[in-house]
Amino acid sequence: MSEQAKIEKIFNDELIPAHIRERMEELRRKGKIVPDERLIKRPSHIEGIRRAGAVNTGVLDAVAAQIHEGMSTQEIDDIVTAYTHEHNGICAPYHFEGYPKSVCTSINEEVCHGIPAKHRKLHNGDIVNVDCTTIVDGYYADASRMFMIGTVTPQRKRLVEETMKCLEIGIAAAQPWACIGDIGYAIAQYAKKQGYSVVRDLGGHGVGIGFHEDPFVAHVGKKGTGMVLVPGMVITIEPMINIGTANVEIDPYNGWTIYTRDGKDSAQWEHTILITETGNEILTY
Ligand code: MF3
Ligand code: CO
Ligand code: CO
Repeated sequence: MSEQAKIEKIFNDELIPAHIRERMEELRRKGKIVPDERLIKRPSHIEGIRRAGAVNTGVLDAVAAQIHEGMSTQEIDDIVTAYTHEHNGICAPYHFEGYPKSVCTSINEEVCHGIPAKHRKLHNGDIVNVDCTTIVDGYYADASRMFMIGTVTPQRKRLVEETMKCLEIGIAAAQPWACIGDIGYAIAQYAKKQGYSVVRDLGGHGVGIGFHEDPFVAHVGKKGTGMVLVPGMVITIEPMINIGTANVEIDPYNGWTIYTRDGKDSAQWEHTILITETGNEILTY
């Protein structure tokens, strides 16, 4: 049986628990946006995504151990590819919708989707986001971290640290039976208090059986709005936080890399999380 067929079969074999199904029905009657049952992962799916998460974390740890001033972002791509393949994984970005590399490496004013290249070196003072997505046995896990190269300015260090805090605050808001809008609200409130702006054009997403599934997880929002978070959902939270304007633009030459419109710095951290009946679990630690 193919990996996809196995994943598919689990939807029939492992049913959503009755008390969860009933609560979903009740909320639907009240007019709430309730996820399609296909967005509720079953125990075997969750085990698969957990395994993908473990490899993805290993990839990021390998990058963390080897990243250094003067190396090229292509060398990061090489580390990611080698580690992933040694652990029977596949780099999801590779040839995804024509993306040419296996990882995204976004430096300073690059918001996301920076493309690794031999000529692109890491300099003292740079901040770089490394975003990895790993497929294991057909399951996906997606996470990214920031790295500070050499001595960075206090301004950059604060951006990196407060962006991590934004992710933590977003995760804390991702409670069972809360909704997507609660996550964005919590993140944007905190970012604003720190004097930062939040990128609106890109966001987190459902993940696990595909790379980008529903729902879209905005990092701004209104409390009590958007899709209800049901135990069994797996989503990413991946705030992109800017020092200046929230506005971004896409690289006209490569069609991928997103930059801040004002050229000021941006940072991002990402985790894949599982909504549980009692809270949530980070699957990319
Ligand atoms: N990993 C990114 C995310 O967090 C997506 C990268 S798409 C790619 O959703 F094609 F650039 F890899
Ligand atoms: Co990612
Ligand atoms: Co993602």
